[in-house]
Amino acid sequence: MSNIFVIKGFGGERRLHGTVKVAGAKNAALKAIAATVLFRDTVTLTGIPEISDTLRMFDLLSDMGGEVVNIKKGKYEVSIQRGFATELTPAIAKRMRASVVLTGPVLARYGKVSFPHPGGCVIGARPLDLFVDGFEKMGATVTIKEDSYVVEAKDGLKGANFFLKNQSVTVTETFMMAGVLAKGTTIIKNAAMEPEIAHLANFLNECGAKIIGAGTPTITIRGGKLLTGKGRLYKTMPDRIEAGSFLILGALAARELHIANCDPAHLEATIEALRSAGIPIEVKKTEIIVRSASRILPVDIKTHEYPGFPTDLQAPMTVLLTQADGESTVFETIFEGRLNYTESLSAMGASITMMDPHRALVRGKTELRGRKLESPDLRAGLAFVIAAIVAKGESVIHNVDTTIDRGYEDVEHRLRAIGVEIERAKVLPEANYGEPAK
Ligand code: EPZ
Repeated sequence: MSNIFVIKGFGGERRLHGTVKVAGAKNAALKAIAATVLFRDTVTLTGIPEISDTLRMFDLLSDMGGEVVNIKKGKYEVSIQRGFATELTPAIAKRMRASVVLTGPVLARYGKVSFPHPGGCVIGARPLDLFVDGFEKMGATVTIKEDSYVVEAKDGLKGANFFLKNQSVTVTETFMMAGVLAKGTTIIKNAAMEPEIAHLANFLNECGAKIIGAGTPTITIRGGKLLTGKGRLYKTMPDRIEAGSFLILGALAARELHIANCDPAHLEATIEALRSAGIPIEVKKTEIIVRSASRILPVDIKTHEYPGFPTDLQAPMTVLLTQADGESTVFETIFEGRLNYTESLSAMGASITMMDPHRALVRGKTELRGRKLESPDLRAGLAFVIAAIVAKGESVIHNVDTTIDRGYEDVEHRLRAIGVEIERAKVLPEANYGEPAK
């Protein structure tokens, strides 16, 4: 059985109201879970979002021999001791790109790691060359088999200097964590600067790591011993992508919507873009209030590594641009497959022209009509939820359990609480008759 969302659209009316609370950040929590491999003792993690990706990462640790105890909602204790396997279980790791960050800690601690070419979203090629180069620079040998990698460092990892040709977040995090146990010093230049990276480094430093410069283009890590989690508590930071998605929803379908439990400092590019579109936004310490605009102005969006406009909010922002009066452009600079979802928005009535795999022209304002939609990845999936709420008539969104549920905790209940007419249902996966059985 697969899950669908059935959403009754408001046809452009502004019916949402109240407060939506932001959950813990998926892309912070996943890395904290991986970082538990760097610890000699038990690590306590709190504020972990209960989404399929985090549950899958815990499953992976358990399946490899780690001990994972769920104390209560969002709170876990993890202990990685002797007998921990060095192979990432392919059936689990393949389903989530983020599993790749486990390779750094496992290799650094045990001198060996093997893993499948990770799966994840269909947003682009997502190569692993920077991982292979990096492990070799740290003294490991890498053997590539059909679709798996075996990496060995019999004498342990040694510190190395990297210049990343692409500011990959997971590459930055993987080698920041590997450097914690390597012999000597590791320097990562042209590092990604997403706030989740500094958040992780701060926690690891509290537990004995020596990481300087996380959140800047150059990170220096002095290698040392296993970390100590005793007496420490990891608190997941708020999910800036979820907060931004709710901001955009509020701008489209609310008179006034409060986004609570967020960190506005992590949303400057998004707030800036919405204000340029004429959306009134009030920023408080841990809350953002979005109010309705008489008309939405067209803006040109260009995604960029942090602190630029986040690629993970490109799809929700494009939905908003279909309701702007005039022509906007969307330039997706990071992933080559991340505009494919716009075909579905056009089928709902949007006027979107693909100029090349990275650029789209959006002509607004167009009326959207509810349709049957297939969610291609978690971020476009959430964008389809937003489009369905704005549209006239009913929409059915498929693949909810394999996309939206990966990244948004209990989303239908939080949406219903602010006035969205949304129901979750289970359906048999569409029978694929394909070729007749031989
Ligand atoms: C992280 O991906 C996030 N994923 C992404 O979120 C997010 O979109 C992205 O950062 C940007 O903010 C996680 O944190 C788990 P990559 P990142 O595959 O940067 C190139 C979501 O929806 N590259 O490393 O780790 C690659 O081609 C996800 O939550 C290489 O060249 O993504 C691309 O240009 C989607 N060689 C860039 O780096 C490599 O070996 C980033 O791609 C690896 C990557």
